[in-house]
Amino acid sequence: MRIVVAGGTGQVGRMVVEELQRRAQAVVVASPSTGVDATTGKGLDAALEYADAVVDATNTPDLSGAAARRFFEDSTSHLLDAEARAGVRHHIVLSIVGADRVTDDGYFAAKGAQEDLVKAGSTGFSIVRATQFYDFARRIAEWNTKEDTVHLPSKHVQPIAASDVAGALAELALGHPLNDAFDFAGPERMALPEFVRRVLRRDHDPRYVVDDDATAPVGFNISGDLLLPREPMRVAATTLESWVHDQGRRALVGAR
Ligand SMILES: NC(=O)c1ccc[n+]([C@@H]2O[C@H](COP(=O)([O-])OP(=O)(O)OC[C@H]3O[C@@H](n4cnc5c(N)ncnc54)[C@H](OP(=O)(O)O)[C@@H]3O)[C@@H](O)[C@H]2O)c1
Repeated sequence: MRIVVAGGTGQVGRMVVEELQRRAQAVVVASPSTGVDATTGKGLDAALEYADAVVDATNTPDLSGAAARRFFEDSTSHLLDAEARAGVRHHIVLSIVGADRVTDDGYFAAKGAQEDLVKAGSTGFSIVRATQFYDFARRIAEWNTKEDTVHLPSKHVQPIAASDVAGALAELALGHPLNDAFDFAGPERMALPEFVRRVLRRDHDPRYVVDDDATAPVGFNISGDLLLPREPMRVAATTLESWVHDQGRRALVGAR
């Protein structure tokens, strides 16, 4: 099969490319650094020639609500139009848990708008709504640090390994469209401060992480349990413990 990975140079996209290549598929990486811009449509027709499926793992560099909406609406519209011209059978998009229900966060609403376009399009589709990636704990910490302390509310999350997400996207690209969406989460539910604390500890990051329900968290100002997966859902295998262990092993190999 010939599969195009839009955003194939990004964190998840790169792993999707590797997984598909491991399975001996023909893969085209479509991102600005390979001359393809989904927000303008530049290079898309050439990239999608003879493609069977497109995986959309793009992300916007500007996560603010208005910019994110513009990015996901423009890129998704251009991708779907180019897919229709090229006769692509299957569009697989990486979305985020809560995108279909969160209304008080611009980025999540933009991902919801992206999903709506995909559902209304003429290409068969599969939508994977992933929870927060384990690595994302570092970004959460960055956003919520005051002096040397990370302040986070004690709400629960169920984060996932980006590699599990990439594996699921690759698997879907080789199959038939679901014409549906599912939530995809890691195997354990935990409090947000505990999640971030465990990743920072692995990094030997000296910052304290405190439970603080009084502050509005940056990047997580989303009410209730909207970040938790709901049915229909699938559960990935990699635990935070084994991901942390694997990161440590990679760091050791890299240091040699
Ligand atoms: N982080 C999380 O915890 C999380 C959780 C659930 C879902 N997600 C979703 O996962 C998706 C991928 O996130 P990520 O962190 O893997 O992204 P990332 O590492 O920031 O990579 C973004 C990718 O998008 C590409 N891109 C940017 N502008 C583009 C354009 N105009 N046309 C085509 N490609 C473009 C980039 O290409 P260049 O390298 O060439 O710039 C890069 O390959 C996002 O849609 C996000 O909503 C993330």
